[in-house]
Amino acid sequence: MARIPSIDDLDVAGRKVLLRVDINSPIDLGTGQIADFNRIDKSLPTIRDLADRGARLVLIAHQGDTLDYHNLVDLAQHAAALSGRLGRPVGFIDDVAGPAARRAIKTLGDGDILLLDNLRYLTEEVSTFERDVKLTPQQMAGTYLVRSLAPLFHYYVNDAFAAAHRASPSMVAFQEVLPAAAGRLLIAEIDALTAVADSPQRPCVYLLGGLKISDAFGMLGKVLGDGTADEVLTAGVTGQVFLLAKGAGLGEASEKFIRDRNLWGFVDEARRHLAGHADAIRLPLDFAVEVEGKRVEIPVDDLPTEHLILDIGSRTIAAYTEAIRRAATVFVNGPPGAYENPNADAGTRALWQALADTPAHTVIGGGDTVSSAKRFIDTTAIDVVSTGGGALIRYLSGKPLPLIEAMRAAAERFWAK
Ligand code: 3PG
Repeated sequence: MARIPSIDDLDVAGRKVLLRVDINSPIDLGTGQIADFNRIDKSLPTIRDLADRGARLVLIAHQGDTLDYHNLVDLAQHAAALSGRLGRPVGFIDDVAGPAARRAIKTLGDGDILLLDNLRYLTEEVSTFERDVKLTPQQMAGTYLVRSLAPLFHYYVNDAFAAAHRASPSMVAFQEVLPAAAGRLLIAEIDALTAVADSPQRPCVYLLGGLKISDAFGMLGKVLGDGTADEVLTAGVTGQVFLLAKGAGLGEASEKFIRDRNLWGFVDEARRHLAGHADAIRLPLDFAVEVEGKRVEIPVDDLPTEHLILDIGSRTIAAYTEAIRRAATVFVNGPPGAYENPNADAGTRALWQALADTPAHTVIGGGDTVSSAKRFIDTTAIDVVSTGGGALIRYLSGKPLPLIEAMRAAAERFWAK
């Protein structure tokens, strides 16, 4: 398979480069301002490198979607944030691919940077268009976005790993008509995925917690089935569902919580995983609940409890810390407890600290995982803090990522020239 070209393979001086980044950021409901700059910060190395080498650089990016409409805002503040961090001007134009954008692109000088407006102001770029219309990358080369912008550029660079699960024109179609290369972040993220999903150092431990248990269950089939994970530590609601599958009663409050979120269907799935891989799956030994404003721990043998389960307990924390300490690779998705509540943050605090302390190769991903890790530890101690949410989960669940497929196909064409 041909190597995906990187920006080091391009001679960009004086050339027009179209760079797709993912700087989709949470927007504070009250202020309307960007609430987390992680993806903006992670995009800087590629932008800086290309501009320093004299590229005439145009950035394209999406923000929000029809499905998370309050995040669907223009990109003016993203340009200001990029400019402040890069210490050089980043122009912004409130047009995506119309005449004003095209005129601005034509006037760029060497090393200039211009951010176009939110790609999702175009129908072709919203995720429902992808779902409903289902165009191939070849067909997407005929979309308004690609027809309008591609003729103005020499190269297309993609550094938007976090959107790798989106088969939209900006992600998979410019490769059809322009020489395409990967940015530094995309290469780093693909290497990180390979390290946890395809050829992990052993033992490889997956810690799966959080509320969005469809993510955890999506991955379980793959990582247990093909032996990627030597051990899976279950926590959060995933841990509770596994205990239900073993026949434990959690108590009315926690069972209602699971039923109300339509998660009961996962109990059968958990039972199937236990039947096939009981040795590899670790279950919580105890839990924490809140009684009259205080944290109280309950061993699993003393269940059910009338209180809502909020966290793993001390014995589970000790056992999982030890498993992390023994591992050579640790992947984490989902906090173990309701960490925003001080009575329920001990599990998340302790296990994130164990991650920071271990010399193992550590990878975390997903919005809630990263924001909870930032709350308790210095995340520079983690080897890879993925920018991916949906993209990461999809890859680890064994499903293809449209971006990686498009970049691989483009690589064959790139090196054939
Ligand atoms: C993300 O936030 O996961 C990516 O930016 C993709 O966004 P989307 O899920 O709205 O396509």
